Amino acid sequence: MEPSAVPPYFFHDQAQSCSKLHRKPRVAWEPGKSKTQTRPPVVPLRLKILFWRVLTVMILLVVPVFNILIAIINCITDRCTHAFRACRGVAPKGRELLEGENPIDELDMDAEDFSFKKVREDYVKHSIPFVLFSSSGKRISDATPPTEGFKDDGRLQVLMDKAFRCFPGLDEIIRALFPCHVRVTPPLWFLGTYTKGLAHIDVMNAAFDCYYLVKGEKDVIIVPHFLTWKMKNLKPGGDNWYVPNSSDPIKGYDYLKGVKSYYRFKMQENTFLIFNSSGCLHHFTNVYHEEDTTSPQALVLHPGYATNSDPRVWASMGLDPRVWLRHSTHMAQLVMNSVFGAQLVLPRTGSKY
Ligand SMILES: [Fe+2]
Repeated sequence: MEPSAVPPYFFHDQAQSCSKLHRKPRVAWEPGKSKTQTRPPVVPLRLKILFWRVLTVMILLVVPVFNILIAIINCITDRCTHAFRACRGVAPKGRELLEGENPIDELDMDAEDFSFKKVREDYVKHSIPFVLFSSSGKRISDATPPTEGFKDDGRLQVLMDKAFRCFPGLDEIIRALFPCHVRVTPPLWFLGTYTKGLAHIDVMNAAFDCYYLVKGEKDVIIVPHFLTWKMKNLKPGGDNWYVPNSSDPIKGYDYLKGVKSYYRFKMQENTFLIFNSSGCLHHFTNVYHEEDTTSPQALVLHPGYATNSDPRVWASMGLDPRVWLRHSTHMAQLVMNSVFGAQLVLPRTGSKY
């Protein structure tokens, strides 16, 4: 697990400086003594944190069984679909790639011959990544990130949105591409003026990444799943398998020398990238221009779709206690959101994703 300057999880109302909590003595509130004193919160923060920790431990008792079951189900469904071919590092028929860099397919949703059914058959079923855009220029979605809980300090900020929040525009697309899907994580916002994340695959219930770029521009690298499986230099993390040093500004792309083919493209504002995040290695870098006043903002939705996940993902989910702990804390966050209505902030690791 990567070191973090702050405790791993905290509430937005202490996001200004969690560490100061222990240095600043709190002035006790006494009724009627001072007009400048403010009433303390109904539920003290320390109690909330205690509740969160107890909840995490309780969920931790269940998560290993749940994860092992999901891993087995994923394994069986994958073996029955495309996994044998992909295991050998062979591309789906007709989808062979050139050596080195390849452009990604960009599909215009306003084109006359555009059909979600065709996209599902040609791309989703084979875990081929693609980008959706609208040539008419209209916004795909008016989604905006939460204003609370965000503090731009030059590091990656991952904010968890409300689990059942609707995103008109995006939800319809996801329903059309993944019928009968469920979200396997709450919506996640990727914010902050960081530059480069780690190249990684996600360890979670097999899911696709539906990545809507609300604002800004990103340099994106995606290694197809059948070649990701051949990469031996990935290391297990808390909720991912990652390429060490891939967030390095100079040597961050060295790992690509050992990859036969990959997609690389500049992702533009108001486009919707869809790819298999538990099967394809992905690597995002923010692109900044002189005229930019804000950093890129991205919203990620994860519809469950168990196909072509990397076998290391199943192994980590079923056997790695660090993954059990991470998944337990995520679930505890969800419960805390429901109970206290608080916006919880994910760990600010500074370089992941
Ligand atoms: Fe990811």
